[in-house]
Amino acid sequence: MIADGLDVVKFGAGEPDFDTPDHIKDAAVEALNQGLTKYTPVSGIVGLKEAIVDKFQRDNSLSYDQGQVIVSCGAKHTIYNILQAICNPGDEVIFAAPYWVSYIEMVKLADATPIVLQATPEQNFCLTPSQIEAAVTANTKAVIIGSPSNPTGTTYDANSLRQIGELAVKNQFYLISDEIYEALLYDGVQHQSLASFGEKVKAITFVVNGVSKAYSMTGWRIGYTAGPEDAIKAMSKIQSHSTSNPTSIAQSAALAAISGPQEPVAEMLNAFQKRRNLICQRFDDIDGVEYVKPQGAFYLFPDFSAHYGRTINGYSINSSQDLATYLLDDAKVGAVPGDGFGADNHMRFSFATSETEINRGLDRIEKALIG
Ligand SMILES: Cc1ncc(COP(=O)(O)O)c(C=O)c1O
Repeated sequence: MIADGLDVVKFGAGEPDFDTPDHIKDAAVEALNQGLTKYTPVSGIVGLKEAIVDKFQRDNSLSYDQGQVIVSCGAKHTIYNILQAICNPGDEVIFAAPYWVSYIEMVKLADATPIVLQATPEQNFCLTPSQIEAAVTANTKAVIIGSPSNPTGTTYDANSLRQIGELAVKNQFYLISDEIYEALLYDGVQHQSLASFGEKVKAITFVVNGVSKAYSMTGWRIGYTAGPEDAIKAMSKIQSHSTSNPTSIAQSAALAAISGPQEPVAEMLNAFQKRRNLICQRFDDIDGVEYVKPQGAFYLFPDFSAHYGRTINGYSINSSQDLATYLLDDAKVGAVPGDGFGADNHMRFSFATSETEINRGLDRIEKALIG
């Protein structure tokens, strides 16, 4: 539609709208000029792994050595490799719905079985420890926890994380802690890594992170994890025979991002917080739309089911796909239907866009739903 010249307001992007900070781009240019354009060690250059080890100490009070760290082509690739390394056919991997779209597909690609547990808005879209306990079987291989979450922006409280850690230790399953939105938290909420609840928990937890979201580097494709050394070795073998190393110059850029000045992150966070407040306030004025206020990431995941069953301007609205089609065709607003996240009553709105665009889009949605 955009290519046809139509004026569409976009809320679909899963990435910050800011440019990658200059000092990071400069580091990539320097790497190019220094000829760092060849293969690197499969699991990442020493300097970057050192910076990641320092980051875990600095931000999460977690001590790792380099053998417990692997750098991959984005956190998506990291999670894929973890699941490939630890899962056998018949293994079960537990996670919450609403889920990030790729968890379910990556579990299936590893020949394991996704065990999807419903997390309601009343529980902040987070799994309760007792829900997990009830779902654990002899086949449970891992639980994936995403906090802050895509698509809901909600975060787990420390008490729940502690109990989930205890369950994992007791039943000896892995924890895959997706902390990619760690740096994007609002209202003074503090991030606590799932691996920080004792050495026994840390020994069976993969802490997944990356530079995509915090440093606006989605296209550079650098993600990483720290976790159990034997599994990290297996991941390295998988990576060796599939992608080899992540791009050499992107690794130099990621090194500058992680170990360089962190002020650009704070500036982006400040803008996101204003946008979050604005989009929430605008949805407050639209009847029949409920949401849980996001404490992190840059997504709002409202429930539109009060509008299901309606026919508006000739469009029958009975699902998130119907609503997405109506909003796109009629109001020229693009948002992501919730069914892909396992939550058909919802739509995902990314507020990684300007306040002007948020206002323009919400004017259109209000008109489309209320008149
Ligand atoms: C929850 C979550 N995890 C992981 C990723 C992967 O990020 P990347 O592969 O860009 O590092 C994303 C990206 O959208 C995400 O939303």
